[in-house]
Amino acid sequence: MAIPSSSKQYNIFLILLIFFTTILTTPVLAHLSVGFYASTCPSVFDTVRSATRSAINREARMGASLIRLFFHDCFVNGCDGGILLVDTTEVPGEQSTLHNANSVRGFEVIDNIKTQVDRACGGSVVSCADILAIAARDSVVELGGPSYSIPVGRRDARAPSRAQAESDLPGFNEDLRLLLSKFSAKGFNPQEMVALSGAHTVGQAQCAVYRERIWNDTNIDPTYAESLRGNCPSTADPASDRVLAPLDPQSPNRFGNSYFQAVINRKTVLRSDQVIFDGGSTDNIVRGYSNSPTTFSTDFANAMVKMGNLSPLTGTQGEIRRDCKRPNKIC
Ligand code: HEM
Ligand SMILES: *[C@@H]1O[C@H](CO)[C@@H](O)[C@H](O)[C@H]1NC(C)=O
Repeated sequence: MAIPSSSKQYNIFLILLIFFTTILTTPVLAHLSVGFYASTCPSVFDTVRSATRSAINREARMGASLIRLFFHDCFVNGCDGGILLVDTTEVPGEQSTLHNANSVRGFEVIDNIKTQVDRACGGSVVSCADILAIAARDSVVELGGPSYSIPVGRRDARAPSRAQAESDLPGFNEDLRLLLSKFSAKGFNPQEMVALSGAHTVGQAQCAVYRERIWNDTNIDPTYAESLRGNCPSTADPASDRVLAPLDPQSPNRFGNSYFQAVINRKTVLRSDQVIFDGGSTDNIVRGYSNSPTTFSTDFANAMVKMGNLSPLTGTQGEIRRDCKRPNKIC
């Protein structure tokens, strides 16, 4: 562009300069869309669905584990596949943090799906973060829960977010106030938090997590507590620490609204599950979902999509990891 001579030309020059500088410095506000891989990996949804299905057929609990893995990915600095990165001595990751260590699982399944997707599409074009988001949706559906469209186009973080994993994930001993504030920090209102807690309609918890509750709490059905004590003795030891109990005693591998009935009946193993129905502000939301499976299904599906939209990396941010466990090598 020639340096303009008249002042009118100069004004236009300035406006154009500002215009282009703004365009070039604003990160592309690329957002997620269902058709993101339509041309680069058209079979991604089919491949993830069948691989997720076989993983659940091999082990029924895996569906629950993948749903939780997605939650623990998205709640920590957004859905960026950060939780999938293994800890190294140089870069300690998210997997060894308080709420993940010896607890969150399903990593080999994600690795396996990634291999299958890369093979189907002739290269590494789908991010690990997207594979996890699709596998979590497919798990919900496979276990009998609601179906929803999951927008994709996320990219993978180059590094884990360890400090945020320690601070942002909710803990089973936390009270309603703290849980509400952790979800509010991610943009979820109390209704959405209760709907998302309904994911505990599937899956298991370990004795180390529920020991105190079944031995000492008063807001638990006494017969139910008694029935769990045999395999979860009051003193900690490595063997009994790992003994599993269903989060929803009625149907740990079946996605439905029975969790809310369990909460109302005080048949919960997590304190964090009972605090949403313990005389506080969310009691009515729990009653509502226990009375209306369709409202729960709709709200849960919407909240899962919203969770999947938590600050994804898009456009040229991050990378498409080839190995979900490690960042790509530079060079
Ligand atoms: C409200 C706050 C939450 C707390 C405090 C919490 C805590 C826990 C704990 C302590 C366990 C058992 C872990 C173990 O014993 O190893 C668990 C399991 C599980 N959580 Fe949550 N959770 C919360 C919300 C959620 C949300 C929002 C989802 C998903 C949308 C979710 C999905 C699951 C699933 C599916 C399991 C079972 C996993 C398996 O069997 O492998 N949780 N959660
Ligand atoms: C129950 O509470 C008592 C008193 O606080 C405590 O000493 C004990 O360790 C608790 N039992 C379990 C299993 O947590």
